[in-house]
Amino acid sequence: MKIRTTVAIVGAGPAGLLLGHLLAASGIDFVIIEARSREYILSRIRAGVLEESSVDVLASLGLDGRLREHGLVHDGIYLQYEGTRHHVDFSELIGRTVTVYGQQQVVNDLMLAHDEAGSAVYFGSSDVLPWGIETPRPSVNFVHGGQSYSVDADFVIGADGFHGVCRSIIPSGAITSYQREYPFAWLGILADVPPSTDELIYALHPEGFAMHSMRSPSVSRLYLQVEPDDDIAQWSDERIWEGLHERLGVEGWTLREGEITEKSITPMRSFVASTLNHGALFLVGDAGHIVPPTGAKGLNAAISDVAMLGAALSSYYAGDAGSLAGYSGRALSRQWKTQYFSRWMTEMLHTTGTGAEAQSRYRGQIGQLDYVTGSRFALQGLAEQYTGLPIDGI
Ligand code: FAD
Ligand code: DHB
Repeated sequence: MKIRTTVAIVGAGPAGLLLGHLLAASGIDFVIIEARSREYILSRIRAGVLEESSVDVLASLGLDGRLREHGLVHDGIYLQYEGTRHHVDFSELIGRTVTVYGQQQVVNDLMLAHDEAGSAVYFGSSDVLPWGIETPRPSVNFVHGGQSYSVDADFVIGADGFHGVCRSIIPSGAITSYQREYPFAWLGILADVPPSTDELIYALHPEGFAMHSMRSPSVSRLYLQVEPDDDIAQWSDERIWEGLHERLGVEGWTLREGEITEKSITPMRSFVASTLNHGALFLVGDAGHIVPPTGAKGLNAAISDVAMLGAALSSYYAGDAGSLAGYSGRALSRQWKTQYFSRWMTEMLHTTGTGAEAQSRYRGQIGQLDYVTGSRFALQGLAEQYTGLPIDGI
């Protein structure tokens, strides 16, 4: 079956779904093609922190109703090391906040709004293949419900995540990948227990990094640094709580335990594509770049890309093509700052190696944390980057 639209979006993660809403607000037609089922997408537990600018983007589309009701506004975070917890008060330092609201909740809100708008979203598609991106008539072929489809569009958007198909169709001579693996991973759990803290805790401990986050007043989200090849089967609930108590513990504070309802291990890597545009194809979110999660940036970077691309497409159809031509450069400029911040947070808070070299590295990390927590300038820099850099062009 042939379909004609203006913009064909591949992927219904936060990036693809949000772009659809931005295009609709400018009166631009779109179709979204997604490989997975709606239920599968909603069951993926991922990020949890929204920058203030991400909240602003959602609010500009009127998509912040449930977010305002259920999101938890946080004034700062705690940095913890050597048994002491230091509050980093973003509100006091720079007058900005973040909102703790799960990626699944964001995605659910975006899906419900698409249902209401009657948007064309093809969940559970297979054999998704964009082609003709070097021509003015690109297309996306796919199979849905046993039927073959071909969507002709002006532009194809790769919002299909790190393992998606879109980036791979850019000719190898036209794109370079900058990649970095980290020698550790995160074991994340969801637990049915009220958070034991008012703000997120990021802790460096000789045994490794640990973090206490949350999803609601009755659900906690916690993470432990583990080996990159660690097997989740080796981590009983008891062993996980033991590790969390050890690494997050400070005098006079108790970590409450609850039933663990989900646990999984996520590898940590950095990746940036040298371009987010080839011909009629544009990449957004994880399709173009990923960061280690320590700075809470993955979801926010997807939102900032989409905000920039949505504004550029809107200008394009209003007669100004310049903004679209500059999209890749603007998005990558913000992304490289995000990359460096995420790497800095990651290296400051995770342990690696053994013996004297590991000890020297650990002492250096304590020095860096002492400097950051003792310097108002450094704290402001951390606060400015954690709460989100400006989004150029919107
Ligand atoms: P995705 O959410 O990956 O969405 C891409 C969509 O495209 C998916 O629905 C996928 O099914 C679909 N797709 C893929 N291939 C095709 C195809 N060929 N055809 C059609 N559709 C396709 N970030 C943080 O900040 N903090 C965290 O704690 C955190 N935890 C994470 C845990 C995991 C396991 C992962 C994978 C990521 C995590 N992230 C985290 C990163 C954050 O979740 C991502 O940055 C965010 O999901 C990016 O959104 P996206 O829409 O670009 O990509
Ligand atoms: C969460 C994840 C992060 O990567 C982070 O830096 C902070 C919070 C979370 O899942 O809540």
